[in-house]
Amino acid sequence: MVAISEVRAANAALKNTHETLTAVFVGATSGIGLATLQAFAKQIPKPRAIIVGRKQARFASELEHLKQLNPDGNFTFLESDIALIKNIDAVCQTIVARLGDDAKIDLLFASQGYISFAGRETNADGLDNSISLRYYGRVRFAQNLLPHLSPDGGRVVSVLAGGQEGKILEDDLDLERNYSIMQSASQFATMMTLSFDHLAVQSPQLGFIHVYPGLVSTGLLGRSATGILGYLFRYVLEPVLGLFASKPGEVGERMLYYGTSGQYATGSWSLDWDGKAKEGEVLREYREKGWAEKVWEHDQRMFERAVAK
Ligand SMILES: NC(=O)c1ccc[n+]([C@@H]2O[C@H](COP(=O)([O-])OP(=O)(O)OC[C@H]3O[C@@H](n4cnc5c(N)ncnc54)[C@H](OP(=O)(O)O)[C@@H]3O)[C@@H](O)[C@H]2O)c1
Repeated sequence: MVAISEVRAANAALKNTHETLTAVFVGATSGIGLATLQAFAKQIPKPRAIIVGRKQARFASELEHLKQLNPDGNFTFLESDIALIKNIDAVCQTIVARLGDDAKIDLLFASQGYISFAGRETNADGLDNSISLRYYGRVRFAQNLLPHLSPDGGRVVSVLAGGQEGKILEDDLDLERNYSIMQSASQFATMMTLSFDHLAVQSPQLGFIHVYPGLVSTGLLGRSATGILGYLFRYVLEPVLGLFASKPGEVGERMLYYGTSGQYATGSWSLDWDGKAKEGEVLREYREKGWAEKVWEHDQRMFERAVAK
C-alpha cells in the first residue's frame, strides 16, 4: 500500500523535477477525473492539459477555476461525443494538431463513463454505449495517441476496476448475447488489463495503469440511473455510501501519483485503490494462455466494424 502521506510528498516534489507536463484528460468534467485534473493543475508549475468532454459550456466555470488554481497553466477544452469511435479518431487528430511538432503527451488519463441500469444500449457504432465509454473508447484513445506519448515516462491511466478481473465469456467478448451489469463489470475489467498488457508489450518504454479507485463519493450511481431508481440512488443509497466512501480530492491525489510516480513508469499494471499491484489467479491464467492478443484482435474487429458503419 502506498500511504497517502507518501502520495502527497511525491506529488509536492513534482515541481522539482517537472517544470511542465502535458496531459490529456478524458472524463474529467466531474468526479475522479476532475479531482485528478485539479491536482495536476496545482502540483505542476506550468501544466498543459487538454480536456475532452461532451459539453464545453458546462465546463466553463471549472475552466476559470483551473486558471485561478494555476495562472501559468494552459487548459484547453475539446468538445466531442466520445461514446463513438469515429469521434474519438477525429478528436485525437485535433489533439495531435494542438500538440504541435515536438510536444509529447506525458499522461493520458481516462475516467469517462457511467453504469447502465437499462440493459444493453446499442449506439450508432453497434456497441453498448456505456461499455464503449468505459472500455472500447479508452483503448481507442490509447491506441491512437500511442505514438505521441512521451518515451520518457509517458503513461496511460484508466480508472475502472484494476484487480477485479474475473472470468470472461470467451465466445461473447462484446456481451452481445449475455449483457448484465455484473458480467460487464468483470468482463471489461479483465479485458482492460489484457488490452493494456498488449500495449505494454508493443511499447515497453511506456506505462499502462488500470486502477480501481475504491468507493468514491462522486454521485456516479445517481447520475447513471433514471426514474425512481435514480431518485433512490441519489437520496437514499448515495448518502449512506458516502459515509464509507473516499472523497474525490484524495482519490485525485492518488491518481496523479499513479500517473507520475517512477514506480509505474513502464509495463502494464493492474492496481487496487491503494496503489498495490494485483494479479489474481483468473488474470494469471488468461495472461498465460495468451488472451491479451485475442482480446486485442477482438478490439480491432469492433473498431473496424464501428468505423465502417
Ligand atoms: N465513483 C466510484 O465509486 C467508482 C468506483 C469504481 C469505478 N469507478 C469508475 O471510475 C470512472 C470514473 O468514475 P467517477 O465516479 O469519476 O464518475 P463521474 O463523476 O460520473 O464522471 C464520469 C465522467 O464520464 C463522463 N460521461 C458520463 N457519461 C457520458 C456520456 N454518455 N458521454 C460522454 N461522457 C460521459 C462525464 O461527463 P459529463 O460531465 O459530460 O457527464 C464525466 O466526465 C467510471 O468509469 C466509473 O465506472 C468509479
